[in-house]
Amino acid sequence: MGSTRIAVLASGSGTNLQALLDACGDGRVPAQVCLVLSDRPGAHALERARRAGVPDRVLRPRDFPDRDAHDRAVAAACRAAGASLVVLAGYMRLVGPPFLEEWAMRCINVHPALLPAFPGLDAPAQALAYGAKLTGATVHFVDGGVDTGPVILQEAVPVLPGDTVETLHRRIQAVEWRLLPQAVALAAAGRLRVDGRRVEVRTDAD
Ligand code: GAR
Repeated sequence: MGSTRIAVLASGSGTNLQALLDACGDGRVPAQVCLVLSDRPGAHALERARRAGVPDRVLRPRDFPDRDAHDRAVAAACRAAGASLVVLAGYMRLVGPPFLEEWAMRCINVHPALLPAFPGLDAPAQALAYGAKLTGATVHFVDGGVDTGPVILQEAVPVLPGDTVETLHRRIQAVEWRLLPQAVALAAAGRLRVDGRRVEVRTDAD
């Protein structure tokens, strides 16, 4: 288990969180998940955290006076957990300026499309509705926009005849489960250099 401490923000089932927990557990990612935080009390990701013995926390937006106050509380929770990296793994809220003032370029998101195509919600449904033949998965640094930050890793996924939103999303997720741990491993090893919009992966020898 590596020394990099990761806070994972998740709103849903947490399969990407699970992929990260597994990869930290078996040494593919030199890091440890120190907190799983959700905006939704019913998120299955919380159960996955408990099973893995990782502290979990729920911060419901409605318990805060406004968006900024919620963002500040999320940022503070990540800090208090001793995190040096935050991973958005199916976190279905935009993180705003109060969060990014502290965590920009130390915050990574996974998105189920080949950005800049199909940002925002329901990306697999967007790809199907567009009639795209190819979509994919992207892991990127988070900035102030909607899925606009510098791209770390991407991989294409075909849209197949007869695909439904569910079959397409599942095929994309299988790629996410590989790509996200890989990107986090690079970040944890200090191998990502950001130059404007471009993210360069340094080799071990660099
Ligand atoms: C993932 O496919 C992730 O890319 C997507 O939500 C899913 C969460 O699945 N995120 C977004 O759409 C964010 N714009 P999971 O909870 O099983 O990891």
